[in-house]
This record gives sequence, C-alpha cells and structure tokens, in this order.
Amino acid sequence: MAKGQIVAGALAPHPPHLVYGENPPQNEPKSECGWEVLRWGYESLRKKLDALDYDVLIVHSPHWRTQVGTHFVGVPNLKSKSVDPIFPNLFRFNYDINFDVELAESISREAATLGLDTTMMKNPHYRVDYGTIVSCHMTRPAWDKPIVSISSCGGASYYNMHVMQTMMSELGQATRTAVEKSGKRAVLLASHSLSHRHFRTEPSVPEDMSYEHIENHNQYVWDMKMIELMRAGKSKEMIEILPDFTEQTAAETDSGSLSWMMSAMGYPTRPAEIHAYGTVIGTGNVIAHWSAV
Ligand SMILES: [Fe+2]
Repeated sequence: MAKGQIVAGALAPHPPHLVYGENPPQNEPKSECGWEVLRWGYESLRKKLDALDYDVLIVHSPHWRTQVGTHFVGVPNLKSKSVDPIFPNLFRFNYDINFDVELAESISREAATLGLDTTMMKNPHYRVDYGTIVSCHMTRPAWDKPIVSISSCGGASYYNMHVMQTMMSELGQATRTAVEKSGKRAVLLASHSLSHRHFRTEPSVPEDMSYEHIENHNQYVWDMKMIELMRAGKSKEMIEILPDFTEQTAAETDSGSLSWMMSAMGYPTRPAEIHAYGTVIGTGNVIAHWSAV
C-alpha cells in the first residue's frame, strides 16, 4: 500500500449563514443572497482542494463537545435533520453522511497509544453537529467523500489552553500517523471562525448585508494578527499566541481544532493561502488553507 498523506488542511468556519446563503436543496430555509465574499472564498478553496484528488475529509468541530476525551463517529452512515439551536430560522439541513470508520478507528488507536482518552461513538441515532455539517458542506457540497468526524474535548475549560493544546498536539501526531498508515490522501478541516464576539439581535431580513460588520475594532486587529502569521508561514508562532487570542476574542479556538490541524501538518512554514475574510453577525471568519504538496 502506498504511504498515505495529509495533502492539505483548511480553516473552514461553520456559520450556518453560509449554507443559508448558498440555498442547497438540503436546507429548508431559503435566502435571497448574503455573505458572498465568504461564500466565494469557499468556492476558491474548493477549486484548490479538488485539484488534489483526495480520498477523505477529517473534520474537528467545536460543536461536538465531549467534555472528557476525544470521540470519533464509529458508524458508517448517519441520516437525519440538523437544526441549528440558535438559528433554526436559517439552518434546518437534511443530511446523509458516509463516514470512514476504518480510518477513525485507526486515529483513535494511535491517540490511545499516546495516552489520550478516546471513544468510538457507535450510537446509530447520533445527530451530527452543525459545525461538522457546515464546514464539510461548504468544502465539498457534493458529499461524495467519506468523513472522519472528531469531537473536541473540554480541556481548555477543565485545565487551561496550554494543557488543551498539548493534548491536541498529540491528537495531531496520532492523526498524521494513522493517515500515513492508511495509504489515503486526506484533507483536514478545522471548523471554526477567528474572533467570536457577536451581535445579540438579528435584522428582520437576516441576509441584509447593511448590518454586517466586525463586532468591534479590537477583534479585527486580533484577526489581522492571526492572518498575518498565516500569510508569513509562522504557524508555530500562531499556535503559541492562541491562548491570548482566545481569551481576548472569545474565539472557538478553545476547541483545539486549529491546534490539532497545525500539529498534524507538522506546523507548516509554507504560507497559508487566504481565500476570504469576512464577518458573520460580527464574528471574524477566515477561509484559509495550508497545502502540504
Ligand atoms: Fe460555532
């Protein structure tokens, strides 16, 4: 078997607004438009990833939160409706997802070998979280690649960001080892935005873009600092300032998705390609990818 490889990793934020703006047949609410810059950014990302001819998407999501340990979807198919708990008016998505259980089990085993607590999630009625669904849909709307779905643990709350990052560093190593043993070409997705302070009220027309801007300038400055490091190929430095970034911007980086992905990719020094930056209800979102080939 040929040696497997992580061919790319993408920061793939999951605001349900982006799926709402796309109007795919799976989503019940319909929009007129909205968040075009970010949606076009995803279109640009898709073109880049499509050229890599990959086999599997491995996604780490803040919205599948397992307080203790890391869980992996361990059933081959899940089909149901996902309703966003905050935005049921925007996201009621009928999904039918195939999972690469073999690769998930392999990552779980490798992570356990490194001392992490892991569990294979075998509940056939489990409802897939909307973070996983939105990031995967925007990256691969054809849904023709199997998914490895990984939970985020509560290490940042139970301990602190530094402990969580150490755990995600090990999960990243385990992911890389399992992918190499699998012979498959994998794309990693870290499913979250950057700054995450947001508005508390919604306009009567949710896609009215005259209301859309960053929640405050401080958040914007932090987002630009992160993007500057991405563009400079300074991923190690980016991960080192992540605890401060997370505290100052209430970011979902406390989930460890970006920390996991950077570790799995060996902390790339190649500059990330930035496809788009834009806000969703005031949160900062970047669509970026690191190519490994
Ligand atoms: Fe979120």
